[in-house]
Amino acid sequence: MSDNIKLIDKLKNENTLSGDEWFSLLSSFTDENRLYAAKAAREITDSIYGKDIYIRGIVEFSNICKNDCYYCGLRAGNSNLERYRLTEEEIYECCKEGYEYGFRTFVLQSGEDLHFDTETICRIISRIKNDYPECAITLSIGEKTYEEYKAYKESGADRYLLRHETANKAHYERLHPENMSWDNRIRCLYDLKSLGYQTGCGIMIGSPYQTTECIVDDMLFMADFKPEMIGLGPFLPHSDTPFRDEPKGSYELTLLLISLCRLMLPHALIPATTALGTIKPLGREEGVQAGANVIMPNLSPVAVRKKYMLYDNKICTGDSSGECRGCIEKRMEVIGYNVVISRGDFKA
Ligand code: 5AD
Ligand code: FES
Repeated sequence: MSDNIKLIDKLKNENTLSGDEWFSLLSSFTDENRLYAAKAAREITDSIYGKDIYIRGIVEFSNICKNDCYYCGLRAGNSNLERYRLTEEEIYECCKEGYEYGFRTFVLQSGEDLHFDTETICRIISRIKNDYPECAITLSIGEKTYEEYKAYKESGADRYLLRHETANKAHYERLHPENMSWDNRIRCLYDLKSLGYQTGCGIMIGSPYQTTECIVDDMLFMADFKPEMIGLGPFLPHSDTPFRDEPKGSYELTLLLISLCRLMLPHALIPATTALGTIKPLGREEGVQAGANVIMPNLSPVAVRKKYMLYDNKICTGDSSGECRGCIEKRMEVIGYNVVISRGDFKA
């Protein structure tokens, strides 16, 4: 048996590897290793979540952002982007439509837009929770204070997505300007966990300056943090950012990491991300086949979708919510999975 197969088996049986073992596996994996990991990951996923695929409806309610992350199309320094904010009524309208399509989780996502202050966010959460008490609310609105996270939680938010982007501080500093700090990012994640959120972290695969050592740090960080959700997608360049000429991330490595995260944290909710579907037409299907169990289609009004371009060529920006909903269901059926109408909580 090859060393890498032994490491994959070890991860499957013990849910952990040492830093050296991670390095060795990640720096020498073959296609055969990747498919072996995918098969093991899918078996584990099936044993916990079956063939069910959870869907989350994303409402991209503002593309205004105070930050200037070098990789992101919404960065404040991108003056080529037409900015928008949905009104509160428009946000409720998206959720209403989403509810009718069978979504039972709404993901409220935006740039770090200070116009939406704590009071406003709490009011939006309370209203959605009041109208749809059986639905979960996930927030994906960036770095906030402990008090703000606490207020959102008390208003009814259930989950929070905040990718750590990289567990390597020096790497973080090459992806972000000086006024953003890795320590604060990690502080946010631990605050969210301590407040009882189902918490999601994650990385871009192949972001500029990422090395295998960085990914080892990510795996060790996640082993310690134990996120309930893990977002993994390839880095894709955006033409109006400083990283416009950087190469995109590896599709195969993204799939491998989905499988390895599944083996390390068997119960995690792992989406087959939009970036994975953008880099390869059947990316989301292959993501599910590698161990993902969540898909997050867009519920934003079609009129604004093209303005929420984190990277070039993002898929689904011309499709309505109903079209995406139907499309996902068909895509999952073709590979033998079922989209279910459920909150799709983390199974402890
Ligand atoms: N390519 C891929 N993913 C990106 N994100 C932001 N910009 C890009 C890009 N150019 C991801 C980040 C962020 C999430 C909302 O989208 O990981 O946390
Ligand atoms: Fe949006 Fe297929 S999921 S069109």
